[in-house]
Amino acid sequence: MDDAKEEIRARLLVEDVVSQYVELKRAGRTLKGRSPWGVDKTPSFMVSPEKGIWHDFSANKGGDIFAFVMEVEGISFPEALEKLAAQAGVELNKYKGGDKKVAQQKTRAKEALELATKFYQFCLTKNPTVIKYAMQKRAMTKGTVLDFRIGYAPNTGKALTDFLVKRGFTKAEMETAGLLNRFGGDMFRGRMMVPFIDTQGVIGYTARVIGEGEPKYLNTSDTLLFNKSRFVFGLSQAKEAIRKNGFVVIVEGNMDVISSHQAGVREAVATSGTAMTELHLKALSRLTPDVRLAYDGDEAGVKATERAIMMAGDLGINLSVINDYQGAKDPDELIQKKGREAWQEAVKKCQPAVDFLLDKFEENLDLSSGVGKREYSDKAMKLLKYVRDAVERKHYEQLVARRLDCSVEDLRAKKIDDGPKRRLKKVALEQKSDILKGVRDNLQAIVLYGGVTSVKGVELPEDEARKAELELVFETRYKGWKSDVLEQEAQQLLVRYKQEMNKQEVAMLTEELARAEERGEEEKSAEILRKIMALKKAG
Ligand code: GTP
Ligand code: MN
Repeated sequence: MDDAKEEIRARLLVEDVVSQYVELKRAGRTLKGRSPWGVDKTPSFMVSPEKGIWHDFSANKGGDIFAFVMEVEGISFPEALEKLAAQAGVELNKYKGGDKKVAQQKTRAKEALELATKFYQFCLTKNPTVIKYAMQKRAMTKGTVLDFRIGYAPNTGKALTDFLVKRGFTKAEMETAGLLNRFGGDMFRGRMMVPFIDTQGVIGYTARVIGEGEPKYLNTSDTLLFNKSRFVFGLSQAKEAIRKNGFVVIVEGNMDVISSHQAGVREAVATSGTAMTELHLKALSRLTPDVRLAYDGDEAGVKATERAIMMAGDLGINLSVINDYQGAKDPDELIQKKGREAWQEAVKKCQPAVDFLLDKFEENLDLSSGVGKREYSDKAMKLLKYVRDAVERKHYEQLVARRLDCSVEDLRAKKIDDGPKRRLKKVALEQKSDILKGVRDNLQAIVLYGGVTSVKGVELPEDEARKAELELVFETRYKGWKSDVLEQEAQQLLVRYKQEMNKQEVAMLTEELARAEERGEEEKSAEILRKIMALKKAG
């Protein structure tokens, strides 16, 4: 795979890859633009065409084209490889040894699905009833039908299968693509076809009956290409808006996604009929920390929101809830009945998920009774365990205490069982380490390229790509500085670096302490606490 990587790197220019996302202007030997993560006030994003690398000074990220695509698309390395290979016209299969067969199967399945999608799209144009269903009943515009590649699967039993056979596909290939039923005929019949699209293209379908019927939706089951606990419907269409506007809306139904996009809220995605998993949330958290849930206000919706909160803390996500549907059952109905502005407003008016749940818990309880108070405080304190930030948690504890007319101490004295293990505050730590990375980059750059000699004990990278990145950092930030000023800067950075390292160590130990305390390991707790105190003194 290293060979493939090199081949792709040789064929693609870093500025071409980056400028698909960032508008770049030449500034000497480098190119400059605004951070695609929207965190800068002035252009802080640099590209060095010579070195084939980029660096974002405001987000403290940098690297080669693969790192860029991974960061900006929120995808894994293999996915980035695949994407860039396609742009570079590099045949990845050639480089894949043992996986070659699987890779070929996937490629054929993708081709079959692409062709099937075109076939379904064509069939839609020939069927006035279904066009009427799509454009009148479901109120989709022509643009939406085309953008989401809506189609129609004929009801004849093997229309698609026959077509694909004629185009040279085998039954085995169709099977891999998830297009066959148990009897070797068409999987989807007489349904409106909504393709599942990801960075690689069409990977499956959700197929709706026209009008009434059972089952209402028939979905592709898991295949080599499609994994339902990972797939986020609409993400490929929503990604740009999510990144640009800094939030994502999760709705329940796939049709809600489509309606929402049409109504101008292009940040909407859905988890295709399955409960949201950590994988879904993780993929979204790479794009934005602002996640808004638009679930039904029923029991199931509340439960789903609670589950999401349990995952959100660990992923550094700010969860909120959209719940002003004005009596409509879902966003789609809201848009159709009250117009697009109503939905846009509802999305703006979202409420922090914790506040939403604390209100919901109250609905079926009598808070003037002792039992009611106990049940309410049980639920509330269980929920607040997942609020990771101490200040935020205190805020809610005070709110609950006021509602129950007791003290925060009373609440804290309650024994809440079923405490799921608190996991590492990974994301919080990562955020801290972002600052650390920034300081470290500057320091390493100065030492490597500024001729600074007075700073000792800084670890320096060996890897060429990393060095090139640091050279870019140096040129952008420190070029032309006098050597005595550089020395001074280096000394200050070193102090800052040690402080940040110290802080990070404290944060890690604090987590360890929490775990030790939870397990009742008193000696260990005391020892960790001593370490923390010592570090705090030193910092
Ligand atoms: P419409 O009636 O077309 O508006 O459906 P909806 O988008 O309002 O969906 P609904 O709220 O009924 O269900 C939400 C999601 O659950 C859908 O997007 C589907 O992914 C899934 N779902 C609903 N019904 C079925 C079904 O019969 N089978 C399967 N497999 N999934 C379903
Ligand atoms: Mn609906």
